[in-house]
Amino acid sequence: MTFGRITIALTVIFAAFLAFIFYLPDMPWFLPKAAAAQAEGIDDLLRLMMVVGGGLYIFIQGFLLYFVWLYRKRPEEDEDAVGRALHGDNRLELAWTIAPLFFIVVLTVLSWEVFQGLGLDQQASAEDYVVEVTAQQFAWTFEHPGSGITEVGTLTLPKDATVVLSLTSVDVIHAFWVPEFRIKQDATPGFTRRITLVPTMEGEFPLRCAEFCGAGHSAMLAKVTVLEAAAFAAWEEEKLSGGGPGPDASPEEIVAYGLEVYKAQGCGACHQLSAAEAAGAVGPTHEGLGTIAEQRVQAADYTGEATTAEEYLKESVRNPGAHIVAGFQNAMPPYEESKLSDADLDAMVQMLLQQK
Ligand code: CUA
Repeated sequence: MTFGRITIALTVIFAAFLAFIFYLPDMPWFLPKAAAAQAEGIDDLLRLMMVVGGGLYIFIQGFLLYFVWLYRKRPEEDEDAVGRALHGDNRLELAWTIAPLFFIVVLTVLSWEVFQGLGLDQQASAEDYVVEVTAQQFAWTFEHPGSGITEVGTLTLPKDATVVLSLTSVDVIHAFWVPEFRIKQDATPGFTRRITLVPTMEGEFPLRCAEFCGAGHSAMLAKVTVLEAAAFAAWEEEKLSGGGPGPDASPEEIVAYGLEVYKAQGCGACHQLSAAEAAGAVGPTHEGLGTIAEQRVQAADYTGEATTAEEYLKESVRNPGAHIVAGFQNAMPPYEESKLSDADLDAMVQMLLQQK
């Protein structure tokens, strides 16, 4: 095996690697699909870095192994034979200083361009679709100032619109991260950070908190739903109509709807309820809550104003500080009507009352 042949072999391996990077463009095993216009520049940068990094790795490791083999100790050589000593080669040292320097300068310029294109902390213009995102232990709240809609646990966005998210937090530092959008930004108490993105794909994408923020961090999940313009308008209309399971819903339908509300509001991040596949342990359990609430309002030492289990549960959602369960702190944010309509609250409480 000569040096020339090894070089050709490594070039073939490198070419196969290039094909792998460029002809498997979505790399689903490696990167989730890109669902925002901003993802493109970031993915291009990543591919460039993989090509350069992969090339360096293949050639350096390849030649290293080749030379290890080429200059191995032969059987006829003496036990403590010494190899030929080599001292410095100015051309080689210049080359391996200038080449990485060149690459780093190119990468810096390209990264700077992509970074500018992300529109971080850019003020929203009049045409942009603005959402105010509030993080708290351990839930996400999304207010749409244009329509007055507030969502918890789900962020609904129009496809192809320029969306500006204003992020803040009410307690500790959290981070907004949707892998499909590629963008990650901290939600910091006392500050408003902005990110701009254009969703380019319909569908549902997971949103997770990417900053360790306490016991419920791993459950601080939400989802982003991207809808076509018409579907988005229909969603807005439905939201503004006040929600609820509808006037003709049967008791079973009301309970099923209430369970959906429970899941969509992200209650399971802090509470346990097997019916909703929720295993949160930050707040008191909701297992058997219908029975528990009845016992509470009938207890001899009960001093609250709510007289029925239903009132007790509703008050616990609207004003969580009214009834603190022994062993827990007053940590839950109040769910006002702007976050949870009366009709939705009603259905959710009917569902909880069924938990015996
Ligand atoms: Cu919020 Cu981690």
